[in-house]
Amino acid sequence: MNTPAPLLDVEGRPEVVETIDSLREKLRGRTIALVPTMGALHQGHLALIDRARELAGTVVVSIFVNPLQFGPDEDLEEYPRDLSADLEALSQHGVAFVFAPTVAEMYPDGVTQVKVTGGEVGELFEGRSRPGHFDGVLTVVAKLLGIARPDFVLFGQKDAQQVFLVQRMVADLNFATRVEVVETVRADDGLALSSRNRYLNAEERHAAAAISRALEAAASAADRGIDSVLAAAQAVFMDERLVRLEYLKVVNPRTFLPVDDGYRGPARVLIAAQVGAARLIDNDAIYLN
Ligand code: PAF
Repeated sequence: MNTPAPLLDVEGRPEVVETIDSLREKLRGRTIALVPTMGALHQGHLALIDRARELAGTVVVSIFVNPLQFGPDEDLEEYPRDLSADLEALSQHGVAFVFAPTVAEMYPDGVTQVKVTGGEVGELFEGRSRPGHFDGVLTVVAKLLGIARPDFVLFGQKDAQQVFLVQRMVADLNFATRVEVVETVRADDGLALSSRNRYLNAEERHAAAAISRALEAAASAADRGIDSVLAAAQAVFMDERLVRLEYLKVVNPRTFLPVDDGYRGPARVLIAAQVGAARLIDNDAIYLN
């Protein structure tokens, strides 16, 4: 029987693994926390990794820009790819392995014959703006879970709809993993950290903070009901000509469907906006009473 290699100390750099067979071999017998990413790592990813280290002895970060989740007019080609910068960012964070497969390794026959779909919720909000996006996300996450068979898999709350759908996939399809969700990491002015923030110029970067201000305004209006929540958030965008609001919705976190006027209880405000070349999303929990 193979004995797992000693765990990496936190000073070390992770070992890069490119093939599925080799990753499976290295992970045998370990307790694993998987952090799926598309690279371009920032503090938000590092928060996921730090939490992963609390949960499991072996942390694996996957770095794979998944073509299946990009639409034909989206930023697949431009999406930042810099493995050595990502490895540098990961050093001293106790990551044992970076799984960085090629597209051919993940999709040897091109697009998979079978896909996981997100049903009704998968076609709303992000799914409406980006048709097929969640099929791509859920399919690659299902593959990563099948490849690494992690005890824990970690996602950031910033992608609330992705989190909801992954949780549903894991429950509905009985994956043997626990989904752990980590709070959004924000810049000092409130902007949620995102790999796409690097598309913003200085003026756009300044304007983009309106998104988190709108979420704060929504939360402050929560005790006056849903119409006030929507009006308060919308008002923040009136003076921000660089921010084009794409949608502003309030959903029931249990179903991820829009709440109606009479709804009372926990809710989540979702925002998507285009700022320059960056399409940004953010969300926050509120309580409607
Ligand atoms: O959130 C992301 O970075 C991606 O959607 C994910 C989960 C890594 C799947 O490609």
